[in-house]
Order: sequence, then structure tokens, then C-alpha cells
Amino acid sequence: MRVCVFSSKPYDEEYLSPALAADCELIFLPVHLNEHTVSLAEGAEGICCFVNDDLSASVINALAKRNIQFILLRCAGFNQVDVAAAKNAGVLVARVPEYSPYAVAEHAAALILSLNRKIHRAHNRVREGDYSLQGLMGFDLHGKTIGVVGAGKIGRAFAAIACGFGCTVLICDPIADPASCNWARWVDLDTLLEQSQIVSLHCPLTPQTHHLINDRTLALMPIGAMLINTSRGALVDARAVIEALKSGHLGYLGLDVYEEEGDLFFEDLSNQVIQDDVFARLTTFPNVLITAHQAFFTHEALSRIAQVTLLNLRAFKQGASIAANRIA
Ligand code: NAI
Repeated sequence: MRVCVFSSKPYDEEYLSPALAADCELIFLPVHLNEHTVSLAEGAEGICCFVNDDLSASVINALAKRNIQFILLRCAGFNQVDVAAAKNAGVLVARVPEYSPYAVAEHAAALILSLNRKIHRAHNRVREGDYSLQGLMGFDLHGKTIGVVGAGKIGRAFAAIACGFGCTVLICDPIADPASCNWARWVDLDTLLEQSQIVSLHCPLTPQTHHLINDRTLALMPIGAMLINTSRGALVDARAVIEALKSGHLGYLGLDVYEEEGDLFFEDLSNQVIQDDVFARLTTFPNVLITAHQAFFTHEALSRIAQVTLLNLRAFKQGASIAANRIA
């Protein structure tokens, strides 16, 4: 059985090869899956994809024409998949719903600490022999209010970290059971935005959450508040955020994801001119810290992704499926 691994990097090969090699022949392809590259899957029974691969209806139908039977997502989010198209085409899709919520939650905390205490700027200063403190003033996290949007696996892990800092934790999640985190205060989104000095997004990207952070919702946040997004880029309207940063209403922004990241992240573009003016503008603010979708990137998470991908592959080979992991 042959499986083509799209958007693969050396670390994917390092973790997936030992886990899956006994069960299938892996073809590692560095390119994203899209309508131009789908023909590379010819001759394979399945493919393995990541967050910025295009699994729209046209690509799924092109895969089905090539007799691709299953898609193994090596990620949790599946907003990039047209689930209905996969069901119609009879292509099975499984994901890794949980690999390390701690990896992402801890990265969100790292962004908060770095932005607040300006670690990125302090590091550069010290390397230049500048030991002055002017402009590096932070604030105590202890006693502040942190709002968590989405109390799933990652949101709850993050809430526990925030609690450890001595923060008051507000949660907005219209679906989850408040009993899952009963020590925090559950509120609606507007109340959370109005009352939190720091807001961290941990809900999935859906039609309902697209541009959840926009002109209106940014205006609800206290002046000087901090916004952290480690979930999906399109939760945030980047143009609205730029205006809020320029006016000073938004005090800090930490991003691990960006709406148009597909053309940027996971690649070394250091010798190229960035064509995305919105992204380029974001990188100019002293109070903005951006990482290139690395929140998941820990040893534990990659090991678990490989393990669960193997279980999904074996289930599909046996004509079965792991209900919790299967989305189509
Ligand atoms: P999960 O499915 O366990 O939790 C998501 C929570 O969001 C659920 O409790 C759900 O009820 C809630 N939710 C849904 N709509 C909402 C809304 N309108 N407002 C508030 N809450 C809402 O998912 P998990 O594992 O916690 O992951 C969350 C997201 O993190 C994923 O969807 C993915 O986009 C992102 N992610 C990012 C990674 C990175 O490397 N930056 C890695 C892994 C996940």
C-alpha cells in the first residue's frame, strides 16, 4: 500500500517513517496538495495531509478519480476539508483530534510572557550590548483577567496555566459543558472581551467563528488589551487588528496563525520579497509577536501524531475506522 505525504518536511519524515514504514510505502512530497499537484497522488491508495493542503471539493473529486481511498490528516483542525465532498466521493478522512493540547496551550502562554516582558526585544538588545531597560516595562500577570474563547482540550489546558499565574479566568464556549472547567467563570463573548486584559482564542474555524475578532469585537476590548491567536488565522480580521494596533486600542498581539499563511508559513522565504502587505505591516509593530504555526511543534506532539496516524491507517486498511478520529 502506497501513501503520499503532502507538505512534508524533514521532521515529518523523521517521525512518520519509523511509525508507518512497516504498514505502507511512504512517498514524501514537499509540495502542498492542490489542483496542480493532485496528480502526484497517482498510484497511491491514500494520502497524508497537513493544515495548508487544499482539500476542497474539486481536489477531493480529483483524488477520488485517482482511486484515493483515504486521507490521513496529521492535524486536529479540519477547516481545510470539504467534508460533504469527501462523503459524497466515498473518500474516508481521519484526523488526529488530540496530540498534545499542552504544546499549543504552552505556546500561547509563551507568546503572552514574551509580549508582556518584551523578551524578543530584550534578547536583541543584549546581543547588541544595549543593557538599558527603557521601553521594556511589563505588568504582573497575577491578578489580571484572561479570557479563553473555546474550552476544548487546548482551551482547558491553557485555562489551567492562566490559573497557575494567579489570573481570573473567563471562558466563552457556547457548546461545551461548564462543568468541564467549573472553577472558571463562563460568560458570553461580549462580556469576555469587555472584561479581559488578555484574550486567547482556542475555538475552531467555522462559518460562525470566521472573523470572530473584527472591528466591533475589538472595540469591546479594554484599551491596551492583549490578543493571542494560536487557533486558526481566519478567526481574526487582520485588517481590523492593524487599525486597532495603529490607534493604540489593542496593546499587544501574539499570533501563531494567519489567515493567508498558506503562501508563507513552513517555508524559508528570507531571500524573497513578501507580497502580502497586510502580513508585512503586522511584522512592523513593536508590540506584535508572530510565530509561523509552530505551537504544535514539540517532540511529544509529533510522536503522538505519528502514532495516531498509524492507528487511523490500520483502521482504514481493515475496513474499519476509529469513530472519534473519523470526519468523513
Ligand atoms: P476542541 O474541539 O477540543 O475544542 C474546541 C472548542 O471550541 C470546543 O469546546 C467547542 O465547543 C468550542 N467552540 C466552538 N465554537 C465556538 C465559538 N463560536 N465560541 C467559543 N467556543 C467555541 O479543539 P482543540 O483540540 O482544543 O483545538 C482548538 C483549535 O486549535 C483547533 O480547532 C485548531 O484550529 C487549533 N490548533 C492549532 C494548533 C497550532 O499549532 N497552532 C495545533 C492544534 C490545534
